[in-house]
Amino acid sequence: MNISMIGTGYVGLVSGVCFAEFGFPVSCVDLNAGLIARLNAGEVTIFEPGLDELMARNIRDGRLSFTTDLAASVAEADVIFIAVGTPSRRGDGEADLQYIEAAADAVAAAMKPGAVIVIKSTVVVGTNARIRDRIRAARPDVAFSMVSNPEFLREGSAIEDFMRPDRVVVGVEDARGREAMRRVYRPLYLRETPMVVTTLENAEIIKYAANAFLAMKVTFINQVADLCEQAGGNVQEVAHAIGMDKRIGAKFLHAGPGFGGSCFPKDTRAFAATGRRFDAPQTLIEEVVAVNEARKQAMAARIVEAARKTGAQSVAVLGIAFKPNTDDIRESPALDIVRAIQKAGLTVRAHDPEAMNAARTVLPDVIWCASAYEAVEGAGVVALLTEWNAYRALDLKKIADLMAGNVLFDMRNVYKLEDVADTGLDYRSVGNGAVSITPKSIT
Ligand code: UDX
Repeated sequence: MNISMIGTGYVGLVSGVCFAEFGFPVSCVDLNAGLIARLNAGEVTIFEPGLDELMARNIRDGRLSFTTDLAASVAEADVIFIAVGTPSRRGDGEADLQYIEAAADAVAAAMKPGAVIVIKSTVVVGTNARIRDRIRAARPDVAFSMVSNPEFLREGSAIEDFMRPDRVVVGVEDARGREAMRRVYRPLYLRETPMVVTTLENAEIIKYAANAFLAMKVTFINQVADLCEQAGGNVQEVAHAIGMDKRIGAKFLHAGPGFGGSCFPKDTRAFAATGRRFDAPQTLIEEVVAVNEARKQAMAARIVEAARKTGAQSVAVLGIAFKPNTDDIRESPALDIVRAIQKAGLTVRAHDPEAMNAARTVLPDVIWCASAYEAVEGAGVVALLTEWNAYRALDLKKIADLMAGNVLFDMRNVYKLEDVADTGLDYRSVGNGAVSITPKSIT
């Protein structure tokens, strides 16, 4: 069973490496020759814990290769995965399908009879059928099967998510497509991972509905955090207790500065746009998008207000990545927050353990610092925006001594009040009425 993986971005590279680890010959394809050259040299082009080891082993054992020659890779493949990007289209928020269409046209030209074509990229409902028709029109002479196989892996734990998913979702139209998926996912099957075999349309909607629901859950707890602050509650205690209800579940109830990343922002916008297009408005998700945007600005406003009160000219930002264990800054709340602080006329000094290289070009006027301690020097306010492990055990007394002001905004609720006691820091977390920004006493 030969696999061709088209697109060596996040999903494509992780999936390609993991399928090779399952024992299949995998050839990963990308049009970007520079990227393929780096991968062929054994360089891991994304930051993902554990990927380097798996990649090296499978290259060494001859199961994993990288090429720019799509036609040659596809011509040999029994199963062809398309895992190219589906960015947000400017203006309407719909997913831009130009890369999928280009990949599909190239696959159509090169595929062998009986090929199984699988779209792994996140695509809105109707896309798989449309791509199937496009390929069929281009190659009426060749039989093939269309499969939708959305991916649910999270950055930072992508390998674990691939190897131990809660479920695998496949949308199929025929027995050949279904059997091909059973074979490629056999190692998971043996571990009794449920495989949901459904239609193309259901698989597409499942992916968007899952991400939209999770983004909604995060947004919900963020609003509850606001209430906790105003009313003297504590969102962590509230989240813990509501999460014990199995119908709600404990995960994705951490209040913070708003969600970001390569999926939630883009997928919620696309889901909302799809709802409008099908005259089935997803008003809850429209609201989630708006509330999340507003939240980032509200967080920035808190920081600016506190900084002004300290009289210091600079703010230290710890964490730029949209979450820990990744160097990905796509739609990270930190980007909007940093820009808003700068717009208010303050200087931003920042540190991130992995994301500074990526951030340098998009945030040009930031003073990048070699450590968290260097970043806080002379700052009026410190804002902790990403919960990296490296920020979980900072010497808070030292931080207070290095700062010009003394406000610590812990926007990921990493610390507890007792951690900051006796440090001289004015500690403010998210969703804690005891230490929030404008706590109101109940009269
Ligand atoms: C997400 C989905 O989880 C994954 O299934 C899908 O395939 C791709 O999108 P990812 O973007 O890697 O994965 O990150 P995730 O861990 O889901 O976090 C997304 C954002 O929500 C981050 O900005 C994170 O900080 C935020 N978040 C998450 C919270 O603020 N609170 C939470 O409780 C959980």
